[in-house]
Amino acid sequence: MSQLTSADRIAYLDTAATTPIGRDYKRRAVDALDLRPGHRVMDVGCGPGTDLRRLADVVRADGLVVGVDRDPGMLAEAGRRVAGRPGVELRLGDVHALPLDDDSMDRARIDRVLMHVADPAAALVEVRRVLRPAGVLVVTEPDWDTLAVADEDVATSRRFARFVAGRVRNPTIGRELVRLSGRAGLRVRSVEAIAVVFDDFDTADRILGLRRNSARAVAAGELTDADVQPWLRRLTAGPLLASVTLYLVTAGA
Ligand SMILES: C[S@@+](CC[C@H](N)C(=O)[O-])C[C@H]1O[C@@H](n2cnc3c(N)ncnc32)[C@H](O)[C@@H]1O
Repeated sequence: MSQLTSADRIAYLDTAATTPIGRDYKRRAVDALDLRPGHRVMDVGCGPGTDLRRLADVVRADGLVVGVDRDPGMLAEAGRRVAGRPGVELRLGDVHALPLDDDSMDRARIDRVLMHVADPAAALVEVRRVLRPAGVLVVTEPDWDTLAVADEDVATSRRFARFVAGRVRNPTIGRELVRLSGRAGLRVRSVEAIAVVFDDFDTADRILGLRRNSARAVAAGELTDADVQPWLRRLTAGPLLASVTLYLVTAGA
């Protein structure tokens, strides 16, 4: 997503959060947090505040929601979305050095952030530092090596999937969460592998960038127009099936 503007990135995140698939896994992740009124919860890499209001609704005014993000543009948008909400704070900061005290949070949420960071293992150690001893972390990250796009031209689908995975800093972070959480001293309680299934072209195109990324792959010499044009025509005509695995891991501090 590096060539997208800030507005494009926010629109992308909003689309992802409002599709039925996005709503479903986000609800499952918040349920897994087992949040109670009065809890202090941090949303690490909160983006434009996608989940802050939902978290604030559960912890209520005597709890605290802290959204942390390293991108000032994202935090500005988050600020607009939570304006006037009591018990919500926003902090500019990096997951490798969270602007929060040791043992200060009951719950931590991370949603599609570790896939982008320089050192996911160190980030999880940092999250554990901030979580209270009985705290709970719920993290959701994809595994881009599982991306599958159904088409008779399997070779083009494979090259497209490899190209998309290659654009992500930590493409296989989803499958690494259990190992890295254990190394960070967190106790993994449950692991869910959620198949995110796309069955319409428009949603798949917006989230997976079928057109955008295939054009990039052609520009990079990884695919040819002769491969991509008929592939896209068949995907547009449907029926479409594409999927990627998202891991939902719940761990105790
Ligand atoms: C894919 S977005 C997800 C946003 C939000 N969690 C959601 O579900 O809509 C990733 C977010 O992580 C933030 N981010 C990336 N690396 C970070 C880091 N090292 N420290 C803090 N935030 C980071 C980005 O600025 C971006 O807002």
